Amino acid sequence: MEKIEIIQGDITRLDVDAIVNAANKTLLGGGGVDGAIHRAAGPELVEECSTLMGCETGDAKITKGYKLPAKHVIHTVGPVWHGGDKGEPDLLRSCYRRSFQVAHESGVKSIAFPAISCGVYGYPMKQACGIAMEEAKAALGKYPELDRVIFVPFSEPAAEVYRETFRRVFLDK
Ligand code: APR
Repeated sequence: MEKIEIIQGDITRLDVDAIVNAANKTLLGGGGVDGAIHRAAGPELVEECSTLMGCETGDAKITKGYKLPAKHVIHTVGPVWHGGDKGEPDLLRSCYRRSFQVAHESGVKSIAFPAISCGVYGYPMKQACGIAMEEAKAALGKYPELDRVIFVPFSEPAAEVYRETFRRVFLDK
């Protein structure tokens, strides 16, 4: 539980083994956190991404971090919210699971997540956050080598949702 951190701010500034990108299926960049990560990493990131042949929703693929402080970027594609009965929860769960699995396969010990799908893709923050924390709890049990799992809400209201969800999922409060 003490391995979980909530840090409000810009994920591109974190010096960790991997930051997770809320990408789109082309992996060729976009707006939001995807745009911020590509801007901070520099043009080599999209060059490497263009060799990956895209990414399915719910899947995750890893690249180097280039000019980012982070060693790697794990690109995952979240679901677009359509009301919650089109398989969105399972697809978002899969984003976290696959990101943790890819991290494990690459020897990543510290990983930071943005609020996947909670921007342009419209996923309600509270529900997404619950999935994120539940999957982090499972991953900490499954991958004992994980030292740090950091959630990076971009705004203070989002940070409050993360803190409240952490208490519910980890402290049963
Ligand atoms: N650091 C941390 N979080 C950030 C940052 C940042 N620098 N910039 C934005 N965010 C937050 C947003 O406030 C939101 O809560 O990341 C969350 C995810 O929002 P989006 O970036 O819009 O991602 P998503 O909702 O998954 O939509 C993905 O948007 O940028 C395009 O190419 C991307 O098509 C894809 C879609």
